[in-house]
Amino acid sequence: MTVSKEVRRLWQLPENELYRLSAESCNLNYGNKVFLRGLIEFSNFCFRDCTYCGISIHNKNLYRYRLSENEIIDCCKNNYEQGFKTFVLQGGEDLSFTDDTFCSIIHGIKKATSGKAAVTLSLGNKPYSSLKKYREAGADRYLIRFETSDPEIFHQIKPNENFRDRLQTIDNLNKLGYESGTGFLIGLPGETENTVINNIALTVELNPHMVGIGPFIPHPETPLKNCNTGNTGIVKKATAILRILLPEINMPAATASSTADSNLRRELLEIGANVLMPNIGPNKNKINYQLYPGKSCINFSTDFADMQKAVNDAGKIISMNIGNSKIKDLENIKTKGAI
Ligand code: 5AD
Repeated sequence: MTVSKEVRRLWQLPENELYRLSAESCNLNYGNKVFLRGLIEFSNFCFRDCTYCGISIHNKNLYRYRLSENEIIDCCKNNYEQGFKTFVLQGGEDLSFTDDTFCSIIHGIKKATSGKAAVTLSLGNKPYSSLKKYREAGADRYLIRFETSDPEIFHQIKPNENFRDRLQTIDNLNKLGYESGTGFLIGLPGETENTVINNIALTVELNPHMVGIGPFIPHPETPLKNCNTGNTGIVKKATAILRILLPEINMPAATASSTADSNLRRELLEIGANVLMPNIGPNKNKINYQLYPGKSCINFSTDFADMQKAVNDAGKIISMNIGNSKIKDLENIKTKGAI
C-alpha cells in the first residue's frame, strides 16, 4: 500500500479508534515520558517575506532584537545547570549571524556543557555547505518545516523561496547525519483535506527523526491577517496519524497548538506527542518573537507550570533525558553491524 493510501485509510477511522492506536504506539516507544527541549529565540531579525509569519519583513511594527554570542551560551550554561540537556536555537533569518558565528556558538555551548548537551538548530533554509560546517562544529539536530506539500500554496506563503530546494535541505540534513526535523502548518489559506493528507504522506517520505506540526494562526501585521486559524481537530488527527506511521519519531506538542486551544497540549500528549519545548530565553525578548499573536510562552515560570500541569493531566512524567531519536539509535546499531 502506498503511503498516501495508508494515510487515507487511517483518516477514515473513527476518531476514538485512531487515538487509541496512536496513544498505544507512543506508549510502546516512549512509555509515559515527555522530553524537554530548552528553546532560545536568539534573533527576530529576518530578511524573508513569508506572508504568514509575524517576524517577516512585512511586520514594520516590531522592535527587533538579537542576543549576543555570550548571552546565548550563558543561557544554555545556566539551564544546563538546571537539568536541561537539549537546546534549540531558533531565529529569523538574520544575516548578521554568519556561519562562523554559528560554529563559534555551537563550540561554546558544547564547551559550557562538557559536550553533554545536544544542540538543535532552527535557522531556516541553509545551503549544504553551511549545514556541513555546523555539523562539523558539533550541531546534532536541525529543524526545518516544509510548511505545506502544495507547491502553489508554498509559493503564495513564501514568494521568494523554492519548494524543491527546501525539501532538498531536509534530505541534506539526513545525509549529514543530523537528527532531522520537519513538519507543516494546518489551515493555510487554499488548503483542503487532500493537502493535509499529502502533508502527512510527504512527511513520512522525508524520513525525519522529529516532526512538528501546528495550526496556522493569522498575525495582524502580515498579508494573511484576515484568514482563519487552523482547525485544532485536524491538528489532533494529523498528530495521531503521524505517530502511527512514524512510531519512533520525537514529536512536540507545539506552542501554537496551546495558543489556539488551551486544552490541546494535554490532548496531544495523550494521543502521541512526546516532547515539549519551554522557552528558556530572556523573558524581556519573548513579546517580540510573536510568529503568531497570543503566543503563550511569554513568562518562563507560568509557562513551565502550565506544561507540568498538562503533562500530569495527560498521565505522563517529564524526563530530563537528552531524548535522542530512537530512529538514530537504530541507525547506529545498523552501522555497527549488530543488525
Ligand atoms: N502561525 C502558526 N505557526 C507559525 N509559524 C510561523 N508563523 C506562524 C503562524 N502565523 C511556524 C512555522 C515555522 C515555525 C518556526 O513556526 O511553521 O516553521
